[in-house]
Parts: sequence; C-alpha cells; structure tokens
Amino acid sequence: TTILVLNGPNLNMLGTREPATYGSETLDDIARLCHVTAEANGLEVDFFQTNHEGELIERIHQARGTVAGILINPAAWTHTSVAIRDALAAVDLPVIEVHLSNVHKRESFRHHSYVAPVAVGVICGLGSNGYCLAIEHFARLLGANHE
Ligand code: DQA
Repeated sequence: TTILVLNGPNLNMLGTREPATYGSETLDDIARLCHVTAEANGLEVDFFQTNHEGELIERIHQARGTVAGILINPAAWTHTSVAIRDALAAVDLPVIEVHLSNVHKRESFRHHSYVAPVAVGVICGLGSNGYCLAIEHFARLLGANHE
C-alpha cells in the first residue's frame, strides 16, 4: 500500500530557505523520515517535488488507482491553485494537506487554502513531524477501511 507524498514549489530549497521559518532540515531529510515512518506503519511512500504546476497535476492524475492516499504540501500553490484542488477532487483519494510552518500565524494571504476543502484534514506548524503524523493517520485510516 503506497502513499504519494507531493511537494510543491521551492520546497527543494529547504535547509537553506528561510531557516527561521522552515528549519534546517532538507527535503531529502524529510523524504528519509517519510520512508522510515511509512515502513514502521506497513506502508510505502512515493516522494515527489516539483516547481511546475502542470507536472504536479499530472502526478495527481496518475495517482488514481495506483496509490491509497495523497499527502500534499502544495506550498505557495495552496493559496493560488484551483487547478490543484480540482485535480485532487477528480482522483477521489484521501488527501492530507501538510505545511511545515503555522500558516495562520503568518501573512494573511497564507490563511486561505484552496486545497483544504478537498482534504481529510490539515496539519500545519509542526515542521517535518507533520509529514510523520499524516503518514501515521493514513495507516489508521486505511487499516480501518480494510476491516
Ligand atoms: C508552506 C507554507 C506556504 O505558505 C509557503 O508558500 C510554502 C511552504 C509550508 O510548508 O509551511 O512554500 O507550504
């Protein structure tokens, strides 16, 4: 059972990008953390980052029928993209939205998410641990569905 972990624009810069906001972990560190957490919970992770919106949309389309759920940090597209929200709605898979920072304590343009209404839930402000918690939640959710 595979969870698709999607990361939006500029998250490839983690580690050096605004460390006061996003911490010093790199995206590779977060990928490793996701793989370890998934394995401990009997899941597999397919980890992907892109700076191209169309590429993210195509990965979402491909997810249909091939993965059990989508963990997405849409980054700046959270606040701008109806297209990503529509793609997530189209594939009809459980979605968890994750942000490293607490977007509610930041600029007001980060307070609105186009993605949140099509997500099971949203985790923000817990840094990379948010990714772990989302994967653990998928493990419970999917386990329960299989009973
Ligand atoms: C982010 C929050 C977004 O507002 C921002 O555009 C990002 C990262 C986060 O993980 O905290 O790029 O999604």
